[in-house]
Amino acid sequence: MIVRDGFRSSPRDCPQSRWLAYYLRMKKTEVIVLAAGKGTRMHSDEPKVLQVLGGQSLLDHVLGAVRGVTPSRIYVVYGHGGETVRRSTVGNDINWVQQESPLGTGHAVSQAMPFVDPAADVLVVCGDVPLVRTQTLARLVEAAGSRRLALLTSVLPDPTGYGRIIRDDRGKLQKIVEEMDASDEQKAISEINAGFIAAPATLVCDWLAHVDDANVQREHYLTDVVRFAVAAGVPVVTCAATDRNEVRGVNSRAELAKAERIFQRRQVARLMADGLSLRDPERFDLRGSLSFGADSVVDVNVIVEGNVQLGARVTIGPNCQIRDSILGDDVVVEANCVIDGATVEAGCVIGPFARLRPETELAAGARVGNFVETKKTRLGAGTKANHLAYLGDSDVGKNVNIGAGVITCNYDGTRKHTTIIGDDAFIGSDSQLVAPVTIGAGATIGAGSTIRRDAPAGKLTVTRAQAKTLDHWRSPKKKKR
Ligand code: UD1
Ligand code: CA
Repeated sequence: MIVRDGFRSSPRDCPQSRWLAYYLRMKKTEVIVLAAGKGTRMHSDEPKVLQVLGGQSLLDHVLGAVRGVTPSRIYVVYGHGGETVRRSTVGNDINWVQQESPLGTGHAVSQAMPFVDPAADVLVVCGDVPLVRTQTLARLVEAAGSRRLALLTSVLPDPTGYGRIIRDDRGKLQKIVEEMDASDEQKAISEINAGFIAAPATLVCDWLAHVDDANVQREHYLTDVVRFAVAAGVPVVTCAATDRNEVRGVNSRAELAKAERIFQRRQVARLMADGLSLRDPERFDLRGSLSFGADSVVDVNVIVEGNVQLGARVTIGPNCQIRDSILGDDVVVEANCVIDGATVEAGCVIGPFARLRPETELAAGARVGNFVETKKTRLGAGTKANHLAYLGDSDVGKNVNIGAGVITCNYDGTRKHTTIIGDDAFIGSDSQLVAPVTIGAGATIGAGSTIRRDAPAGKLTVTRAQAKTLDHWRSPKKKKR
């Protein structure tokens, strides 16, 4: 059996300092996640916040970071593709608030404010900024402190597309200007707004009441609250993201691809730090979660999806896709295999070019070789199917030899049927086992047989037409002209 002890879990985020964790618990923070925008620049039929990064929607990434600050309530403002967004989002801790039309980020926040506890602090986050980390959000909440407006900012080499932070001569923050409304001089500013704010709920309500659409996009901008805070003499503080990648907004396919690469780099750094050997970290993708024992090695162009567990000393060859599977200690996966929903015990050898489909179970030391497909099939310990076979809906005992070209005919056009093969059986090459059918323990099936009835244990069963040699036959010859 697979030993799970010693697997290392990989937390998504660094732990916060104990003090900050205590502070967040004591403070009542309600979070509003903005997810109602159209995402026009994606040119997609899908809502933008459902675009996928590392196997998870942008919105689920953001919610993951948000949950780390232990908010008392989470609101998600949804609109475009509303029902799909609600259905596809993980977690039952979300209060959904609808924004009928996407009139701007300020308008979106206004939709949630009537539900927010006036005594709470509000943290507003964008649903399309997926790389933000919990500790950054926590610092922002802390910076809002008592009766302040805190903004998450960054300095970017290319600030194009972001709202710019405008300061006076003494460096005091004045306002945020959106790219579309910015002068050339303002566009040259590299300090940007990440789109996240934290402030007391009552102040946010007051400021939002003043927001209008007097701008190029004719939208109600959340960013206008900064001007109003400054005018009212409320201290405005900026909180710079430690890692500038955290503030990356995803508005286009190109930005999504860039964010994906950054996300993958983050993950591989963590996996390698925990002891996984990756032949080339730039050519490995994890779209889910991966745990592993000591000294496992992954070659190039491997994609891991869903929930995958590797035991100790597992070797994965190049160009493999592995999804929702458990591979035990010392398993070897040769090049070009697709493994989905399989449980593989210690010491099995798979591939090259094997396909294990859902509900495949390989007991210790089994081998599945090139161009073999298995589905809903159990192979007993030491059983081999080394070449060109299809095994579906089968229960195969131990030390069975499945010859090249063997097919379990599991489907009669309407229903699936089961094939049972006893221990130590030998299935000759190119045989078809027409299910439902049972092959007894120790039975041998002669090569090229089509088995429609149960084959008895310990005997040779063969269905083969007699070979004939025709003496009068002549090879056709081409006529000479
Ligand atoms: C916004 C900020 C900009 C900042 C950038 C950071 C404003 C006016 N601008 O610009 O200063 O640099 O984020 O990424 O806030 N949304 C709604 N309802 C709406 C409009 C948007 O819920 O009516 C949501 C979107 O789904 C998205 C988020 O708000 O998740 C931001 O909207 P988006 O249109 O992407 O704003 P940006 O132009 O990127
Ligand atoms: Ca955006």
